[in-house]
Amino acid sequence: MRKPLLAANWKMNPVTGATALELARAVSPAAAEHAGQVEVAVFPPFCFLESVAAALVDAPVGLGAQDCYWERSGAFTGEVSAAMLAGWCDWVIVGHSERRGYFGETDEQVARKAAAALEAGLSVIVAIGEREAELEAGETDLVCSRQLGAVLEVLTAADADRLVIAYEPVWAIGTGRNADPAHAGATMEVVRRRLDGAFGTEAAGRVRVLYGGSTNAANVVSYVELASCDGCLVGGASLKAEEFSSMIGAVASVEARQAIRPAPPDPPTGEGGRGIRPAPPDPPTGEGGK
Ligand code: 13P
Repeated sequence: MRKPLLAANWKMNPVTGATALELARAVSPAAAEHAGQVEVAVFPPFCFLESVAAALVDAPVGLGAQDCYWERSGAFTGEVSAAMLAGWCDWVIVGHSERRGYFGETDEQVARKAAAALEAGLSVIVAIGEREAELEAGETDLVCSRQLGAVLEVLTAADADRLVIAYEPVWAIGTGRNADPAHAGATMEVVRRRLDGAFGTEAAGRVRVLYGGSTNAANVVSYVELASCDGCLVGGASLKAEEFSSMIGAVASVEARQAIRPAPPDPPTGEGGRGIRPAPPDPPTGEGGK
């Protein structure tokens, strides 16, 4: 069974360290209350990692960075390596569409970052997703398969426990136009099939697949209810402690409902089917290591 993950990508917010600490502290009670059903992780800007880590030391909230560089050290002004981050946090996001779009990151660079993060001992969220014109051209699966394929080429089944794929259609990010759950679910099924093909069904069953793009407390359930979806990567709503706490509660209630559902009679098919997969020996952390 894959535990759902709610990952809070704060992006370049908030501006002050005091506000970052306030936000981290404000989401801790909901994360603690529902720690049995939902894993929560926050992704502040680099400069707040140390203080947020200290504020969360006793809270069941994972900590991550929003990007990393693949080289371990050297003359790369402005960059922060995965190896450096490993001393401060548990997670890193790579391949966010804002990095691909505004900073020209390529599929190959994203793959190098993912490999470096895993090598450094971090868990990694790889973000993929199509732009609006690609959606309109019917190229969603093609684009996502290409972006995911570049990453899977450099990873192995042994990385499955610490790998999360976030499907974030670019047109849904920050627009209030969240994807129709049917579209998101179909794309996440494609992702799951690619993972099955690359890692084999058993290992692929340990990789979590998230949806991201204009999620909030009112729509999060419609994604997490999908068999192919293991949580959400949240932007704007994660900056509002009350809203994000409600999202944690909403995801926990879906988990609680699904846990009491009788197991389906058929064996795992390799496509979705949360609750019918064998439990991973070592679930991805998200806690500790700070
Ligand atoms: P929004 O939730 O603000 O649309 O952002 C999604 C996102 O980009 C998370 O990484």
